[in-house]
Amino acid sequence: MVMDNRYWRIIKRPEGTDFASALALVEEPLPELAAGEIRIGNAMLSMDAGTRLWLTSREDGYQPPLPIGAPMTGLVVGEVIASRADGFAEGDLVRAFGIWGQVSQVDAVMSGAIVLDPSVADKRAWFGPLGMNGWTALWGIKETGAAREGERVLVSAAAGATGILAVQIAKLLGCEAWGIAGGAEKCEYLTRELGLAGAIDYKSGDVGAQLDMAGGFDVYFDNVGGPLLDEVLTRMNHYGRIAVCGLLADYGSGMRTAPEQFDQILMRRLRVEGFFSPDFMDQGERLTAQLKGWLDQGGLKMPYDVTTGLENTLSAYQKLFTGGNVGKVIVELDG
Ligand SMILES: NC(=O)c1ccc[n+]([C@@H]2O[C@H](COP(=O)([O-])OP(=O)(O)OC[C@H]3O[C@@H](n4cnc5c(N)ncnc54)[C@H](OP(=O)(O)O)[C@@H]3O)[C@@H](O)[C@H]2O)c1
Repeated sequence: MVMDNRYWRIIKRPEGTDFASALALVEEPLPELAAGEIRIGNAMLSMDAGTRLWLTSREDGYQPPLPIGAPMTGLVVGEVIASRADGFAEGDLVRAFGIWGQVSQVDAVMSGAIVLDPSVADKRAWFGPLGMNGWTALWGIKETGAAREGERVLVSAAAGATGILAVQIAKLLGCEAWGIAGGAEKCEYLTRELGLAGAIDYKSGDVGAQLDMAGGFDVYFDNVGGPLLDEVLTRMNHYGRIAVCGLLADYGSGMRTAPEQFDQILMRRLRVEGFFSPDFMDQGERLTAQLKGWLDQGGLKMPYDVTTGLENTLSAYQKLFTGGNVGKVIVELDG
């Protein structure tokens, strides 16, 4: 039986946060299911800031740009509605790299599809603490940042999905955690709700002076790059580590982070290292187990910013780049 799918197609490269001119909601029949493929009835779409890079024409990113005319790719959670892949049966709850549409028809292996534990009550957690954001936060703090008990850890975009987990993980590992976020409300959330040692509001006043008041840092988990990185480079403690998670300041601006204070890497004997979640996907089970332990004990909080309806996806996505969100941005699809 031929089945129609509604999905967001890339019609041109977006400028800044003008996603409405760049993506169009289209409808077309699904092709027949090929061997190795599964058809997922998407229940939720994960909005991830890193996908903005795939919408640019940059060929030197960590993956090639998505072609014009292609469906917009992203992480999805939903039930398998048809399967021609070993290990996947109709009715399985799965997470995969699918498309922003009602249905994701994907190769089970290429899309990194995994069957999820149906006993987890809040399915949104598969995008947050138990998803890529959780893995990334844990890896960046513990492995790349090598944060040790008692050290001072600073995280940028700290009220967003990845950052909010990174600051809490730093705390759980016995570090003194600080966050950088835009606006007094977000900073208050970080200190009052999450109990961070302090928060820097990069949208108000002199960021350098706020950082001076805070004192030096041993680990910087950076989601942002840009001018903020320069401010932090001159406030790192000797032998500190900078875990480069993302470069949000660059994604929609066409700018490339090029720190003026690069020399501080030598002066302070810093280690600066990028890391990328697909590189440690094979560690997913171990990372999820540790994160689930903390989550079940109430050690990890995650606020969700939920938008309903496929047609409202672009306004949800935009929040990542305007700072409209606290925590994980998700689009729930009806029916
Ligand atoms: N390396 C990896 O494998 C990996 C995996 C997942 C995510 N990431 C990275 O993690 C970062 C966060 O992604 P996410 O999906 O979790 O999004 P998110 O943090 O939930 O949302 C992005 C937040 O970043 C802040 N922001 C946006 N533009 C900014 C700018 N120019 N300067 C400072 N802050 C800015 C905004 O909050 P404010 O109100 O505070 O501005 C916004 O809420 C991204 O850089 C992403 O690429 C990397």
